[in-house]
Amino acid sequence: MLRLLVLHGPNLNLLGTREPSVYGQASLPDIDKSIVRRAGERGIAVQTKQTNVEGELVTWIQNARGHFDGIIINPAAYTHTSIAIRDAIAAVALPTVEVHLSNIHQREEFRHHSFIAGVALGQISGFGPTGYLLALDALAAHLEAVSKASRPRTAPKNKPTASRR
Ligand code: DQA
Repeated sequence: MLRLLVLHGPNLNLLGTREPSVYGQASLPDIDKSIVRRAGERGIAVQTKQTNVEGELVTWIQNARGHFDGIIINPAAYTHTSIAIRDAIAAVALPTVEVHLSNIHQREEFRHHSFIAGVALGQISGFGPTGYLLALDALAAHLEAVSKASRPRTAPKNKPTASRR
């Protein structure tokens, strides 16, 4: 069973009341519920966590190795500032999808740069809470493809073999 870790960064605990014109009406518990539902439908084990503390995100990423197959992260404002989170993702080398509710490339210039994008499998930005579900589907598809490619090929049974006399 695939195991995915979903991390939410600073101020995302305020979703629902925080700048709803930018981030929408859904609260973080609403979003987490939809992630857990989608994961359940796909037979994926998922854990979601939120913190306002950069070092806590770094520690959770470090601890993910050996316990999770991949990470979905909305680093929120740390996207644009945190080399520590980028280095943690590079260090654990777990496939990681970066998610943003808003389209960061359409917003203020300081949001256009992501320190995370360079070490992420991909970035999903601008689809609101649906972005987390897209990330889950994309990460699961990636992990399934990788595991299929690394499985030893077994010779099909009853394959006629050419016999030489
Ligand atoms: C965000 C975008 C960031 O620029 C911002 O600091 C956030 C949320 C998003 O989900 O759109 O807190 O990551």
